[in-house]
Amino acid sequence: MNTATIRSKFLDFFGRQHHVVKNSFSILPQDDPTLLFISAGMAPFKPYFLGLKTDIKRAATCQKCFRTTDIDNVGYTFRHHTFFEMLGNFSFGDYFKKEAIAWAWEFITKDLGLPKDRLHVSVHHSDDEAYQIWNRDMGVPADHLVKLGDKDNFWTIGVGPSGPCSEIYIDQGPALGCGDPKCAPGCDCARYLEFWNLVFTQYNRAEDGTLTPLEKKNIDTGMGLERLAAIMQGKTDNYDNDVFQGIVRHVEEITHRRYNDSTQIRTAMRVVGDHVRALSVALADGAMPGNEGRGYVLRKILRRAARFGYRYLGQEKPFLYQIVPTISRILDVYPEIQQNLDHVSRVIHGEEERFLVTLKTGSEILTDFIGRLRKDGKAELDGGRAFLLHDTYGFPLDLTREICREEKMTVDEKGFATELEKQREREIGRASCRERV
Ligand code: SER
Repeated sequence: MNTATIRSKFLDFFGRQHHVVKNSFSILPQDDPTLLFISAGMAPFKPYFLGLKTDIKRAATCQKCFRTTDIDNVGYTFRHHTFFEMLGNFSFGDYFKKEAIAWAWEFITKDLGLPKDRLHVSVHHSDDEAYQIWNRDMGVPADHLVKLGDKDNFWTIGVGPSGPCSEIYIDQGPALGCGDPKCAPGCDCARYLEFWNLVFTQYNRAEDGTLTPLEKKNIDTGMGLERLAAIMQGKTDNYDNDVFQGIVRHVEEITHRRYNDSTQIRTAMRVVGDHVRALSVALADGAMPGNEGRGYVLRKILRRAARFGYRYLGQEKPFLYQIVPTISRILDVYPEIQQNLDHVSRVIHGEEERFLVTLKTGSEILTDFIGRLRKDGKAELDGGRAFLLHDTYGFPLDLTREICREEKMTVDEKGFATELEKQREREIGRASCRERV
């Protein structure tokens, strides 16, 4: 089953349960200073959860999301992404646990046909009600149900609506497991893959962590579409699903490299595919690369993708911009990418072009530093050299860190911070001298 079919099956299913099916909101938060990007399907609905808006009681979306927490892992793992699509159904003071659990179970076991014997569920350890609904009403046996603590089963977006949750997992088989006989959902290994989170949103969380009960109880569910597509296509790697393979085929054509030729090429193509997808969506929604906040995150991923292309895919000239039309075709459910195609491609091309000059010089200098340090038997790049790269050559610390990681070296980040501080003090000194003059 391809990604587009899963997406529409989900929305049709919840449409039949009288949800208002909405298009994805922009990936850029509107009137929400607590977020750089929309990072969950529920985020645009915060006013509904808080009871500030009441015109709808049920909604379902496939929401464009961006998470900034794991950028440095993207490419190295099967599951990390910056941009992803989240399927979600929401109740604003309307239905609660019983219906949310029953519909989730019906959708995955009937509409998607996932085998019950491979499904497992976790609930918050204090939530007997959810446990009973799964066990007694849905017939999930006790050996497929686990109770976990706040770390796994309490969901919060930082500030705003939050609550205990129940997660659905698929057993990917012992070959992906850690071998521990006690291995179960919640274990850090890859065997049990969580793919749907049902949050029983009943609190408002303040900045200091205080939880205030909401007047009405709500439902917020979230299911990663990339993950679900991989499951439905019998893959254990999200990047093997139809969407990513479509992007990868085009990257192969442009770069004349094969995805499966080496681990490094695979990693590089995942980075390129993920990051250009994220950039296409964010730029089409009106964001721009820059030096701060959201703009900095976009600049960072663009540079990261360009660097992987340069180093492992032999791309010394701008090439990321060429992938945008393919992404717009594959993600045609978001027509804004096609509508802004020229703008998005032009911005990416311009950034790439400027960065490649910095990248070439900085990489050569860093390679030279690493060679010398190795000769001296050292495995750490000192803060002074990392700072020189940053300050004189505009070569960002995160790239220095990532290249060092590939070369099995560390960076003296404390030393870097000290140098940065010294420079700030010098600048303040200069500024106050100017003022005195
Ligand atoms: N808000 C929850 C999550 O992001 C469920 O939608 O996982």
